[in-house]
Amino acid sequence: SLSDVEPLLVRAAKSLPVERPPAWMMRQARSISRRSPYDRAGRYMKEYRDLAVKYPSFRERSENTDLIVEITLQPWRAFQPDGVILFSDILTPLPAIGIPFEIDDYKGPILDQPIRDAEGLKSLHELDLDMLPFVGEALTELRKEVGDSAAVLGFVGAPWTLATYIVEGGSSSTYKTIKSMAMTEPDTLHAILSAVADAVGTYVGYQIDAGAQCVQIFDSWGGQLPPHMWEVWSKPYIQRVVDKVRASHPGTPLTLYANGSGGLLERMATTGVDCIGLDWTIDMEDGRRRVGDKAVQGNVDPAVLFAPPEARSSITLIPAVEKAVQDVCAKAGPVGHILNLGHGVLVGTPEENVKAFFDAAKKIRY
Ligand code: CP3
Repeated sequence: SLSDVEPLLVRAAKSLPVERPPAWMMRQARSISRRSPYDRAGRYMKEYRDLAVKYPSFRERSENTDLIVEITLQPWRAFQPDGVILFSDILTPLPAIGIPFEIDDYKGPILDQPIRDAEGLKSLHELDLDMLPFVGEALTELRKEVGDSAAVLGFVGAPWTLATYIVEGGSSSTYKTIKSMAMTEPDTLHAILSAVADAVGTYVGYQIDAGAQCVQIFDSWGGQLPPHMWEVWSKPYIQRVVDKVRASHPGTPLTLYANGSGGLLERMATTGVDCIGLDWTIDMEDGRRRVGDKAVQGNVDPAVLFAPPEARSSITLIPAVEKAVQDVCAKAGPVGHILNLGHGVLVGTPEENVKAFFDAAKKIRY
């Protein structure tokens, strides 16, 4: 059958039988303190840090096909994960709908023309894919490089999460501008979210056409909303993305991730996606139960990867990283689990512990 040739990760996302858990990791990690600089964000690999010295602009690194391919393949060459995530950003498509942005090493994303009223809406236009050739080219190239050995993963921001940047003008710790807008200018905010949802739906289709085999939707700041507000301001727009993708690309699995999603899990499971990404603050057993028949992804605490190599479980003497992998896989069970951290790899994580994580995944047999 066709599914026999699908990569392990795609099979797990669809809750099809697998012989072991597929594993991948994301390199983006938000600093715990919002005030601390982003100058080393996501840069746990020396090879990447060296390349970033040569190409200091994140926009250049993430918008040049050769650099995207090279950076995407760095962790794949070093650790042989089962998924390779495109080196890009959730904000990458924004210029193609009329919203320019920059990435500041210290402040993170900066958008000079935030949209806060009906007048601002005029700058928005339909997604112009001609402005994003490097994304399609890189995905196609990556499929050739990686072959059947791993799945190529695309990703997008959920409309609500993208709107936080579009309205706030950058990163936020309180989201008070956009939350105020929900009360004072609800029609304008709904209009932004509708336009963004249509663009994101088109963008997911473009990524799949170019080679993405599974696409993750990051509603990173969905957990900042009270659940009843998430129902109004995030969920319908995620569903709009999912519906659009299902209509054009029914076979490609979709994963939905939110930071701090403890109040949202059952709700996330009703968006129509295949797989729910869990952060590390949810017990895998509880998370698995709460999302019903959806596949789950996660959710080892990224801090576990700081364990010194000699740290072992006192009873079994199994090294700490391997034990964390075994425990989460036991709790998730053999069907519909993609092994991952609960978020990205933290700055300063020893590379040998990333390797230990993947080695532990490959030792498991169902
Ligand atoms: O953190 C999440 O929940 C993931 C979703 C997300 C991404 N980008 C995906 C991503 C979010 C919320 C962003 C916005 C963004 N872009 C931030 C966070 C700002 C905030 O509000 O906290 C930052 C710092 C950027 C810029 C950026 N993008 C950096 C610094 C990096 C890491 C690489 C580097 O040069 O240091 C990225 C790459 C990135 N962003 C990836 C993803 C999935 C690539 C993943 C990978 O290569 O593994």
